[in-house]
Amino acid sequence: MMKRQKIANLLKTEKPIENILLKGWIRTKRDSKTFSFIEVNDGSCLKNIQIVVDEKTPDYSEIKKLTTGSALAVWGNLVPSQGGGQKWEVQATKMDIISVALETFPLQKKRHTDEYLRTIAHLRPRTNKYGAVFRIRSELCWAVHQFFRERGFRYIHSPLITGSDCEGAGELFRVTTLNPPIPMISNEKIDFSKDFFCAESNLTVSGQLSAEMFALSLGDVYTFGPTFRAENSNTSRHVAEFWMIEPEMAFCDLTGNMDLGETLIKYLITFAIDNCAEDLDLFARFVDKTLMKTLENIVSSDYVHLPYKDAIDILLGANESFEFEVAYGSDLQSEHERFLTEKHFKKPLIIYDYPKSIKPFYMRLNDDDETVAAMDILVPRIGELIGGSQREERLDVLEKRMVLSGLSKENYWWYLDSRRYGTVPHSGFGLGFERLLMLITGVSNIRDVIPFPRTPGNIDF
Ligand code: 4AD
Ligand code: MG
Repeated sequence: MMKRQKIANLLKTEKPIENILLKGWIRTKRDSKTFSFIEVNDGSCLKNIQIVVDEKTPDYSEIKKLTTGSALAVWGNLVPSQGGGQKWEVQATKMDIISVALETFPLQKKRHTDEYLRTIAHLRPRTNKYGAVFRIRSELCWAVHQFFRERGFRYIHSPLITGSDCEGAGELFRVTTLNPPIPMISNEKIDFSKDFFCAESNLTVSGQLSAEMFALSLGDVYTFGPTFRAENSNTSRHVAEFWMIEPEMAFCDLTGNMDLGETLIKYLITFAIDNCAEDLDLFARFVDKTLMKTLENIVSSDYVHLPYKDAIDILLGANESFEFEVAYGSDLQSEHERFLTEKHFKKPLIIYDYPKSIKPFYMRLNDDDETVAAMDILVPRIGELIGGSQREERLDVLEKRMVLSGLSKENYWWYLDSRRYGTVPHSGFGLGFERLLMLITGVSNIRDVIPFPRTPGNIDF
């Protein structure tokens, strides 16, 4: 049997090739009386390949009736194109109609809004723009693994179902097999001892706690997987299911953590520029004209290091009307973050030493007893891309912080054990993979860089 060739490979050829077989979907078709030009795409690259088919081809009358979306197998010869616009085209010798798309195929017309395409998320990867988004997404996944592998990090699979709430924000999706009538201990309290795990369980909000256990065993590790948050916020930067890259390093302080974050961001952007040029060019031309300048700036800048209190000083002194109030002790909103990175510094910055009151229990308490060794990396157009910290390795301090955060020491006995048996300074962070993709493509809504976005009220597809 003849092997199907991918269009991406065919278009890279230097010489004509005889007797090829390709398969794909019709993007457009132009017919004259005796021949047709068919633009076919197989998803392997942005470009279509032009097929020339004429009345001598068997079943030409059937082929002529086909519309956009229909699937074809094409046998023929790859030859220099007679017309302009493309280097190669295929002179078809034989064509099989794999399937005929209905006339109602919704991607007939050329341009559609992102909002409309979200309503047909099962078909949108067949458009140029979304094909490009998801090829870049795939390439960058490999780049993440390559980055860590080159640096001797081990890849850890942290569990998706867990009994803990790493961020302590209570934004948990419960996992249960209980059905009505729900067993109750009291009017308010469900009897989880009757549930599948005999305990309250939820989808993970972060793989960090597991990663810490492995960093304290294997040294440098990372997790990269889906995380879930039942945040009821409909913003362009939040989804309920997103992918997070979480490195965790033993014997590493906050400075080492910041450096790894900066290096990782620069590496991934450079990787995309070097390896996804054709797809990236689509975004630079049609989505954000300043894209390449923004990316080059992020790759070439030394990131600003700024304590939280200095960030607040700058914001309070700024001649800018913010929707949310700026105050010492309150968290930065996206508008504040974007002001600092886009307008004030005009490059990425790392804010560190946040007040302990607005950060989770696991962050290391600083000597001032007021701030923790936290760090967020903010980038233009996105705001917070990375959130991380040095971890509290001192058992007594950690226990106190847990109690103050309302966590039960009994439930986290295993986490506390890691501070009993050879505890060491360690640090890590989480990088939101979708936010990185927004940055790299210039796409402004997070729903458009994840195949099937999960947001409040939306579970289609
Ligand atoms: O700052 P966050 O909440 O940090 C943690 O979860 C830590 N436990 C990570 C660690 O230290 N290992 O989340 C990290 C990043 C954010 O900076 C953001 O990029 C992304 O995850 N993120 C989201 N992305 C999309 N939708 C959401 N709802 C997100 N929430 C956080
Ligand atoms: Mg954060």
